Amino acid sequence: MTDTVTIVGQGYVGLPLAEAASEVGWRVWGLEASSRVVTQLNRGQSHVDDISDQQLERMLGRGYAATLDPSCVSRSQIVVICVPTPLGDAGSPDLSAVTAAVTTIAPHLTSGTTVILESTTYPGTTEEVVLPLLSSGTHLTPNQEFLVAFSPERVNPGDKKFGIRNTPKLVGGLTKEASEAASAFYASFVEQVVVLSGPREAETAKLLENTFRHVNIALVNEMAKFCHELGIDIWEVIRGASTKPFGFMRFTPGPGVGGHCIPIDPNYLSFEVRKELGYPFRFVELAQEINNSMPRYVVDRIVEALNDVGKPLNGSRVLLLGVTYKPDIADQRESPAIPVADILRQKKARVEFYDPYVENWAISDGSLERSRELEAAVLGADIVVLLQAHSSFDVESLSSSAALFLDTQGVSSENVLRL
Ligand SMILES: NC(=O)c1ccc[n+]([C@@H]2O[C@H](COP(=O)([O-])OP(=O)(O)OC[C@H]3O[C@@H](n4cnc5c(N)ncnc54)[C@H](O)[C@@H]3O)[C@@H](O)[C@H]2O)c1
Repeated sequence: MTDTVTIVGQGYVGLPLAEAASEVGWRVWGLEASSRVVTQLNRGQSHVDDISDQQLERMLGRGYAATLDPSCVSRSQIVVICVPTPLGDAGSPDLSAVTAAVTTIAPHLTSGTTVILESTTYPGTTEEVVLPLLSSGTHLTPNQEFLVAFSPERVNPGDKKFGIRNTPKLVGGLTKEASEAASAFYASFVEQVVVLSGPREAETAKLLENTFRHVNIALVNEMAKFCHELGIDIWEVIRGASTKPFGFMRFTPGPGVGGHCIPIDPNYLSFEVRKELGYPFRFVELAQEINNSMPRYVVDRIVEALNDVGKPLNGSRVLLLGVTYKPDIADQRESPAIPVADILRQKKARVEFYDPYVENWAISDGSLERSRELEAAVLGADIVVLLQAHSSFDVESLSSSAALFLDTQGVSSENVLRL
């Protein structure tokens, strides 16, 4: 029988994983909850930046199929869960997609299947949530007839250097056999698989990685604010510090943190620490406070720049360049550009935007249409604010034709206003 894998959730994580497994010969089912996603994928239309329509066509040619029908699980040796793990109302983890996925697959498990959770989550989820739910939905004996492991996803959308194949994969099984089965699956297309002693260690390792970024971004964001007041160029400071070949890692300030991971995942860790131990994880909470203050700080800097030329924010045309959370991708999830636009509109600025990857941009009180022509929009604006430095932007030329230009990414020359 062909080796078959079901990948539950065909989004930013699940679809590239499906592509990598399909390329080395796995028969891949993409089990989805969204009929729109299933229809699009089976038509060869990719909705994920990292997978092109051509790659998807090749996957379909190799037998890949997206489906709403969970019976594919009964024909799979491996089932990988890649569904969203957002925050709930009170900032607590929302595992509803994980529990729904697990409940759906449990009755279809057959003897010998290994279930792997990839969704980012708090320590203990695999053992305390996934295993009991699977066990109650199947007649099979847990940890014997079916195996369970956790393996965090480390995908960095848009990264041309590090992808699934050359980013080491962590695995933590509930049993030695689970670790072995999960490792064998990943080793078929990932260069290096690293086995940890169990799921808790793998779950926590992923949260350490994201918390590390979150805290270090907050550090440079806080420094950017006081360096501005002290008349010190933070970008030059970072350039200098980055020449140290050991013990320093370069992080840069910006309008805030965005995406599916950094603004969300550290909360999973602080929530668990508070719930289990009753005390706060102070680094995470402080980093959150600082990073969340950055959109308002950017607006303060816009007000300051306009004020210097005798203009009020009220009624001024503010052109935002780049509204995605990362350069050169279309993903707008949790992008700090949204609170920047919201605050500007609350203060009655006339907000416009240009982003080569976004045509209609949803902000809190409606949606904005992209300015038709970049050069004309730059010339017509009272201030242009670079929020995301897509590589297609000719920043030097744009900044020289703008009346005022605020660069929040530190990519322009030193005589331009920078964060
Ligand atoms: N996007 C990233 O860069 C990234 C990186 C590392 C880790 N992660 C983690 O990976 C997980 C998935 O993230 P993503 O970015 O791929 O999310 P996504 O929103 O892009 O995709 C998730 C997909 O799962 C589907 N889905 C939801 N519930 C389902 C269910 N019960 N059954 C089947 N399908 C279901 C959705 O319809 C959607 O298509 C999250 O835990 C996230 O934190 C994401």
